[in-house]
Amino acid sequence: MTIFEHRLSLDALRAFVELGVADVLGDRAGRSEELAEQLKVDPPSLYRLLRALTVVGITEEVESRVFRLTTAGACLRTDRPDSVAPFVRFVLRPYRARAGESLEFAVRTGQPAMVAVTGGTSFEYFATHPDEAALFNAAMTSGSLSSVDAILSAYDFGDFSEVADIGGGHGALLAEVLAQYPRVRGTLFDLPEVVAGAAPLLAARGVDARCSVVGGSFFTEVPSGADAYVLRCILHDWPDAEATRILRTVRSAAGPSSKLLVIDEEVPATLAPHLSKLLDLNMMISLGGRERTRAEMGGLFAEADFRLRRVLPAGGLHAIFEGEPVAPRERSVADGRVEPSR
Ligand SMILES: C[S@@+](CC[C@H](N)C(=O)[O-])C[C@H]1O[C@@H](n2cnc3c(N)ncnc32)[C@H](O)[C@@H]1O
Repeated sequence: MTIFEHRLSLDALRAFVELGVADVLGDRAGRSEELAEQLKVDPPSLYRLLRALTVVGITEEVESRVFRLTTAGACLRTDRPDSVAPFVRFVLRPYRARAGESLEFAVRTGQPAMVAVTGGTSFEYFATHPDEAALFNAAMTSGSLSSVDAILSAYDFGDFSEVADIGGGHGALLAEVLAQYPRVRGTLFDLPEVVAGAAPLLAARGVDARCSVVGGSFFTEVPSGADAYVLRCILHDWPDAEATRILRTVRSAAGPSSKLLVIDEEVPATLAPHLSKLLDLNMMISLGGRERTRAEMGGLFAEADFRLRRVLPAGGLHAIFEGEPVAPRERSVADGRVEPSR
C-alpha cells in the first residue's frame, strides 16, 4: 500500500466507526441502500465506503452491493465484550490526528505535540472535554481487556492478598485478576472523575464486594497496605521526573515485602527496528512520556528505592517489570551514589 492509500484506509475506518455501521450490519449480510436508510446517510456514498473497506479486510461484498463484516470487521461491533470499537474511535479522533500532524512541533520544542493543538497534554484536555475523556476511558478498558489473558498467563497473583491497581481506569484488568483469584482483594485507584465510572464494570464482573475504589492523584498519595502495586500503561505516559515521582508515591505506600508490577512496552536495547520505537512517538505526541528500555526502567526504579527484580514478557510488546522495595541507603550504595534520593 502506498502512503496515500494507507491514509485513505484510516479515513474510511474512522467514518465507518463514527457512523456505527458495524452495529447496523451485525452478523447478517446487508444491502447498502437498506443500510443507508437505517443509518440516514447518502446511499451511493455508503456503498463506496463499504466497497473501499473490502480492500482493508473490514467488509466483504458477498454479492453486488450486499456486504457483511469480516472477522476483523465484527470486532468493531459495540455489543461484543471484546469490541475494539472504543479503542479505534479514540485513536482516530480528529484532535489526536491534529496532534499527530504537529509532531514536528514536538521535535522542535521537546514539548508534547498535543500542546500545539489543545494548549496542554491529553490528560489536561480530558479535564475540560468530558466526552473525549469518556471515550478515552472506554478505549483503555478495551485495550486492557485485549491484553489481560497474556498478563494472567505471565504472572501468578495467587500469593497476594491485596492487589492495588494504580491508575487502573475503570478496573478492567483488576476485575479479571479478582475474578481469577477469588481470595484476593483489590483496590482500584485513579483520578476521582475516572473511578466514578468504575462501578458498572466491577459489578458486571461480580468482584465489587472484594474491591475498594479510591479516587486521588498518584502524585500525592496512593492507598497503603497492598502487597502488589500494579501500574499498567502509566509510567510510559510521563517524562522521567514525573514517572519517578509516581514511583516514590507508591514506594511510600508499599510495605517492605510489597511487589511493584509495572506493565509497559519494552524497547529492546538493540539497534534493530522494533515496533516499540514507533509506538514511542504516541507518547511524544499526546503526553510527553516515553517507552523505555529495561535499563531505563531499572534506573527509574532505583531512583524511587525499588530494585528491578525480573522482567517477564506479557504479550505483544508489553512486559511486566517486577520490582521490590529496597532501603534508600542500600540503593545509594548499590548505585555508587552519595546524594540522598529525596
Ligand atoms: C494510559 S491510561 C491506563 C489505564 C489502565 N491502567 C489501563 O492499562 O488500561 C492512564 C491512566 O492514568 C490515570 N491518571 C492520569 N493522571 C493521574 C493522576 N494524577 N492520578 C491518578 N491517575 C491518573 C488516567 O486517568 C488513566 O486512567
